[in-house]
This record gives sequence, structure tokens and C-alpha cells, in this order.
Amino acid sequence: MKKFLLPLAVLVMTAFLPAKADEGMWLPALISQRIGDMQAKGFKLTAEDIYSVNQASLKDAVVLFGSGCTGELVSNDGLLFTNHHCGYGYIQKHSSVEHDYLKDGFWALNRAEELPNSGLTVSFLDRMEDVTAQVLKGYKKGMTEEERAALVEKNSKKLIEKATAGVKGIKASVEALFYGNQYFLFVFRVFSDVRLVGAPPSSIGKFGGDTDNWMWPRHTGDFSIFRIYADENNAPADYSPANQPYHPRKFFKISRAGVKEGDFTFVYGCPGSTKEYVTSDDVRYVAEVSDPEKIALRTQRLQIQKKYMGQDQAVRIKYSAKNATTANAWKKWQGEVKGILKMKTADSKKAYEARFREWAKGTRYEGILEQLESLYTQRNPYFHAYETYNETVRTIEILQLASSIKANINDPAAVKTRCEAFFKDYYQPIDEEIFTAMMTAFGDNLPDEFKPAYYKEQIAKFGSVEAWKADLFAKTLFTDKERVLSLTEADADAVNSDPAIEMYDAFWQWFTKDIRPVVMTANRAINLAYRDYMKGQMEFEPEKAFYPDANLTLRVAYGKVAGYSPADGIDYRPVSTLKGIIEKDNPDIFDYNIPQVLRDIYAEGGHEAQPVCFLATNHTTGGNSGSPVLNADGNLIGINFDRVWEGTMSDIAFDPEICRNISLDVRYLLFNIEYIGHASYLFDEMVFVD
Ligand code: ARG
Ligand code: GLU
Repeated sequence: MKKFLLPLAVLVMTAFLPAKADEGMWLPALISQRIGDMQAKGFKLTAEDIYSVNQASLKDAVVLFGSGCTGELVSNDGLLFTNHHCGYGYIQKHSSVEHDYLKDGFWALNRAEELPNSGLTVSFLDRMEDVTAQVLKGYKKGMTEEERAALVEKNSKKLIEKATAGVKGIKASVEALFYGNQYFLFVFRVFSDVRLVGAPPSSIGKFGGDTDNWMWPRHTGDFSIFRIYADENNAPADYSPANQPYHPRKFFKISRAGVKEGDFTFVYGCPGSTKEYVTSDDVRYVAEVSDPEKIALRTQRLQIQKKYMGQDQAVRIKYSAKNATTANAWKKWQGEVKGILKMKTADSKKAYEARFREWAKGTRYEGILEQLESLYTQRNPYFHAYETYNETVRTIEILQLASSIKANINDPAAVKTRCEAFFKDYYQPIDEEIFTAMMTAFGDNLPDEFKPAYYKEQIAKFGSVEAWKADLFAKTLFTDKERVLSLTEADADAVNSDPAIEMYDAFWQWFTKDIRPVVMTANRAINLAYRDYMKGQMEFEPEKAFYPDANLTLRVAYGKVAGYSPADGIDYRPVSTLKGIIEKDNPDIFDYNIPQVLRDIYAEGGHEAQPVCFLATNHTTGGNSGSPVLNADGNLIGINFDRVWEGTMSDIAFDPEICRNISLDVRYLLFNIEYIGHASYLFDEMVFVD
């Protein structure tokens, strides 16, 4: 559509909307500011239905699952849906070659069969509250930033103590929004007895694997099912066989009515991190330096892992989770770079900055962009070393084991736990090859003055990375599981002089002395400058509705079911079906080899149109995985699990034409319970509305 054809009334109206239709991750407690727009787009409930402190509301059916996903309650007995990839680590922990739940799936056929997961928690948001005034209480003009930070910390601590005093399972945090222009208190109830109820085989739950990851058309059955348990008072409690299923304040009803293009949808979940308000310099750094280098390093690691995984089933299991994690960001960054370049985000930010500069003349915001620019120029060479260290040295597994054993040498139980967990998923030939590749890249990617002396000494001593590696793996004791298990305090000398420790420590010294402090100081200064720049942007465009960048706090995103056109000549429709799974099915390609039972069910007929996934325009990001996708009535129609590759730049810049979230159609989950899990007993506790 051409802008100059729009009638004036429309132009005036759009000024009150976010910059672009459907962009935004809104705070539930402030959703009354958006509810008019939501209702105009089809939403039938009220702000109070979404978030209320006085009565049960939809927020009471949403949890932060683990430390980086979302989940939703779907029964009065604590039944919870999330993604397969969110439950993946837990499903893997219960898996072995004998009973491989990752490969074959897992279905508890009654509550006694549900599997506890140590370390897994889910957090319900009790309330969120604007505490900006309390956090800044005592602030005086002329205070230094250090004084301000100390004040913020002191006041936040008080608020947190007050919110959590004397109640079991309550956690609270104060989060800075808009770079510290606003502060919110979040109070959670944290449950730690969460049991695995069901998961499809990976050939369904991870169907398409890393080939289809971040892509459309998509056919991944990306769900897993858990149940929350509580003590006899329905309160949070550590795992105990005596615990009872938790009765939530609210759970979602499930709609089987289905979705079609244009339907209103909203996503209620915990997006992890975005940076929508950064400068063109930062965008360029991401697209031209940071992402491309990390992508190249991960390409090498992935190739090495894949080579060995393809040769041996046991190695495939060991490295499946590690490989998926590495591949995930690797692919996302590729889409992000393409998206930023295609949208010309750096250019449009530059143009925006020129207008801002003009406006800021004579205001307190004059010079803020120049300040940010110079801070980035100072920081970036160090940040480059920082990221390179993370993507190279820290990916050598034996070094990580060595350092954690050294740190726990006084604690035999901790040594044993760490050692068992490590060797369960370790394959030395992979680690050796990654060592060589990563230490070579470390040398190539960083200028000499940004390398530790130790690196240069080792290269001089051994003549090559390969020889250095061979020496380290021949001499370290940490590749010998029995030896590691036998370590006690008495072995401190052997541990301290081990070449893996020596290497770990040498890099750590350099990183924590020469690199990290500079990056942290610069980042603090950058964040401070953004506090002003953010405020300036809000004053510069007073009509625009701003949403705070994602920070894993609960948000609402809303939009509609919609396809998209990723390139000239291609139009994607927004729904996929079982027919597409059968079309992709190929026993010779690991990612597309579906279980025989699914082929058989399909062959019986009648399931061609079984919906699998759908696309919508909701603004989501990592952390939104597992989020409930709701219809205009607030009923569950899907589970968010991904975004389209071409739209992953939405963490930095949202393009309503291209950015789409990908959801599992809840009806495919139900199909799996019935036909794959034979666990239809679970339907009895769900509530269906059509
Ligand atoms: N891209 C999704 C997310 O960011 C799914 C990741 C898991 N799947 C995979 N094939 N690695 O988390
Ligand atoms: N799969 C992502 C997650 O784990 C969601 C995809 C995204 O939007 O980044 O949260």
C-alpha cells in the first residue's frame, strides 16, 4: 500500500498505535492501555480477564517453565503443556539406550508412572507492580550513578524482602524496564515438584529437526506434558511421593474449533530478550561482526558433532541436546543477519537518528548519540574478544569438567554427580576435534594484542594447535572417569598441575582481568546512556506506544493468523497438516523419518486434514517457547514454539509483513495423546469448548 494514498484520518489514528501493526510485547498489568486495540482486532474479553490482582485471571494459568521457557495449565489437577524442546533436557535425563524416551516417547499411563525431575521449577506470577517511586526513593539531583545504583539496590532489596517474608515458595525480583526509566516488582510462587507425564517420540516432537527449525512450512509436534504437584495445602513443596496434584487458580479451556487466516490470536508468555531501541552502530555490529563470526564458529562445531553422531547411535543420544542447542542460535543468527540487511535496519535507524539529533538540539539529549557511538567504539574490540572466548575456549568440554571438579574437590558427592553427568554425554573424539578447530579459530579471529600470552606460548612451544591438543589430551587426568571419581583433597597437587586446569586458568585469568572488566564497565556506561536515549526517544515521539524490551517477564503479544511472502513469487499459507508430514516422510533422512505407527494411522485414512501448525503475527522471541496461544475468547488453540527464519530480526526490528510466530495447533497435541500415546485418560481432566 502506498502511504500517500492513505486518508488523513488513518494517518492520525495510526500515530496512536505502535510503530507497526502487531509489534509489541506488552506488560499484562498495563494491558488496559492496549485493550481497546485488542478488542478492535477481535478480542472478546477485558483487561481484568487478562490480568487481575483481585480475582483469578488468565495470567494464573501461565508459568515460567524452568529458566527459559513458558508453560500453561490445562486442568484443575496441575496438568501443564509446554514444548518438546523445553522438556527435552529432562526427557533426555530419563533416557538411556535401554529405554530411550527421547527416541520412543514417554507416556505415563497413570499418575504413579509420572517421572519427577530434579532441578525443574515452574513459577506463577502472583503480581507485578510499578515500584519506580519506591525504588528511587531518596534519589537526589546530583547523585553520582554509583550512588543511584546503590540506592536502587538497597530499595529493591527492601521491597523483595517485604514481598517474600515468611511465605514458602515465594520469590520476588525488581526488574528495570526501559533501561531503568521504570522499575517493576514481580512476585512469583515457585513449584519444584514437576513431573513428566508425556512426550511424543522425537521423530514427532522434533520432526524436521534442525533442517526445519525456524522454517515454514513446519510440521513439528513440539509439545511435552508435565504435572505440577503441591503439598497437602496446595502450596509449593519439594518433591515427595506424598504430594498431590496442584489445583491452579485458573487453567485454560481448550478450543478445538480451529484457526483460519485473519483470526485474532494472542500469546501470553515470557519473552527473554530483545533490543528494539538500540542505535544503528549496535545493529551494524550485530549484523556485520558478531553474528557472522559466531555463525562461522558454530558451523565448524556442528559439522564435527554431526560427523560422529552419524556414525554411532550412542553418540547421537549423547550429543543430541548439545547439538540442538548449538544449532538453534546458529540458524537464528543467520536469519537475523539476512532480515536486518533486507530491512536495511541500520540505514533506517541512521535516518531516525538524524531526525532525533535535530530535535534534540538544545535539550538534555543533545550529544547522547555521539556518546553512545564513542562507547561502542571503545567497547567493541573487547566485546569481540569476549564473544570469541565464549564461542571457542568455553566450548571445550574437558576444560569445563576440570574447572568444576577443581572447585568441588572437597565435596566427594558433588564430584561424583558432576562426573557422572559429564561422562554420560561425553565423547572424547568430538571434544578433541573441537579443541583443534576452536583454538585455531581463536588465533585467526583475534588480533595478537587481544590474545593471552599463554596462547602465544603454547603455539610457540608445540608448533601447532594439533600438537598442543595431542599433548593436553595425552596428559590430562580428566579424560579418565574412574580417576576423576577417585579424586579427593589429597590429589590437589595433581589437579592443580593438570594441563586442562592450567589452560582453563590461564584463559580465565586473561578473560577476567583483561577483557571482561572492560566490557562490563563499557556495558554499564552504554546502559546508562540508553536510559537517557530511551527517555529521549519517548519524548521525541510522544504519540507512540512504547513497550519495554523483553526481559523474561510476563508479556502479552497479539495479532492474527496470517501467512507471509518470504520472497518474490512465494506465498505461504498459514496452516500445515498431517498430509505434509507424510509428504516429507523419508526413512533415509533422520530428521524426516516418522514412526511407523504414524504411517499406519495415516494409511487408515481420514486424517489428511489433521492440522499440525499455524502462523500468526504475534511478536515473540526466545522464552516464548511453550507459551499458550489463545483465541478471541481466551481459550487455548495452540502452543507457540518458533518464529520464521526470515523474521528473526524482530528481536531488533519488527517487520509486520514478514515476522511470524509458529505455533503447534493444539488439535495435533490431542491427536498424539490419543493415537500415539494411547493416553486418552488425560482428556478427562481437560475442559473442551468448541
Ligand atoms: N527454534 C526454536 C527455539 O528457538 C526451537 C528450538 C529447538 N529445536 C531444534 N531443532 N533445535 O527454541
Ligand atoms: N523456540 C524459541 C524458544 O525456545 C522460540 C522461538 C523464538 O521466537 O525465538 O523460546
